[in-house]
Amino acid sequence: MQWSGAVGGAWVCGQYAHCLSLLRDSRLNSGASGDFADAGDGETVLRQTLSRWMVFRDGPEHHRIRQALMAGFGQIAAAEIHRRAAGVVTRLVDRFGQAGGGDLMREVAWPLPGLVMGTLLGVEEPLLDSLVGWTQTLADFLREAHPSPDLTARAMAALGEARELFAKLIRLRRVKPEDDVLSGIPRAGSGGAGLDDGELSLQCTQLMFAGHETVRNFAGGAVLTLLRHPDAVGELRRDVPGRIRAAVEELARFDSPARFVRREALEDLDCGGFPVRAGETVLVCVGAANRDGRRFRNAGDLDILRSDNPHLAFGAGPHACLGANLARILMQRLVARLLEVFPVMELRAEPEWSSNPGLKRVAVLQIG
Ligand code: HEM
Repeated sequence: MQWSGAVGGAWVCGQYAHCLSLLRDSRLNSGASGDFADAGDGETVLRQTLSRWMVFRDGPEHHRIRQALMAGFGQIAAAEIHRRAAGVVTRLVDRFGQAGGGDLMREVAWPLPGLVMGTLLGVEEPLLDSLVGWTQTLADFLREAHPSPDLTARAMAALGEARELFAKLIRLRRVKPEDDVLSGIPRAGSGGAGLDDGELSLQCTQLMFAGHETVRNFAGGAVLTLLRHPDAVGELRRDVPGRIRAAVEELARFDSPARFVRREALEDLDCGGFPVRAGETVLVCVGAANRDGRRFRNAGDLDILRSDNPHLAFGAGPHACLGANLARILMQRLVARLLEVFPVMELRAEPEWSSNPGLKRVAVLQIG
């Protein structure tokens, strides 16, 4: 744990034990539900709206939204989620294989999360391209500490359009429920936890966003890691069905798609001897924690058979990733199918990277 002025003044924590306890500690909140008293300009209004996404809420309100969204996912049988997710991956990878390979990011990793979330939420395919575009604009906005007025305006429009699309779907599902997440989310007033339509359309935009860059980065990072570790690929190929689960967990640990999550101390606290004061920001570096030699044996080595692997790639505590199982299904299917389609899988050119302080990202990955 150390104080860093470089990131606007924050505690930076990369030790596994400290990260785990910080993620579980209710004396820290998710750091974005602050007071937007100066609301007025477009950027503040937009940040204020996005701060109502569940990931930025805490306490009972967070719990209520999370229960409602989980009920939505619970509406579809686990086997059906598996079938739909695997179906999307298979379709994309097989098309990629038939073309003899190419840029995995563009052909597979880019469309994958939007297609899967859209299928689960009940968005029809012709609308998905627009939805993915709007999600990307929001991601661009959130990445910028000081977004330009133009980006802010585009992000506001994108959020408005996405919410309108979901609002229409919500109205349709109210009349005629389908086998999708949206139909299973309890409405406010229906007894117990529930969401009103405005809240639900906003949380749907979060669901699109949450898997958007993370899944894409997981796909790019995991495949690149495998290409750089041919021995591990050989080991995996010897028993793909038996080894794929452990392999994907190890790939998430070894190259974590989300580098850190942000928290804010609600009161003074001591973290492993470091005095964190109320109001200070803590960056919980899950990527670094996943390489902590005090928790993981040979932490710097890729071991696709690793069995003791309680990595933090999907977070922990009350905000632990809601889509972790879905992401696991996608990655297991993606890696397994790539190995089937490409009996020999090779990197055709050095990868291209795009920089992002929160999420490291392979931008172009030419394979065949
Ligand atoms: C490889 C892919 C993914 C990774 C690495 C990942 C990682 C994470 C992490 C680290 C968090 C914790 C955030 C925090 O503590 O502040 C989180 C939260 C979340 N993730 Fe994921 N995620 C992935 C995919 C997905 C997908 C596909 C969905 C779609 C349903 C999703 C939905 C969410 C949601 C809704 C939250 C907020 C949970 C809450 O605040 O209670 N994630 N994710």
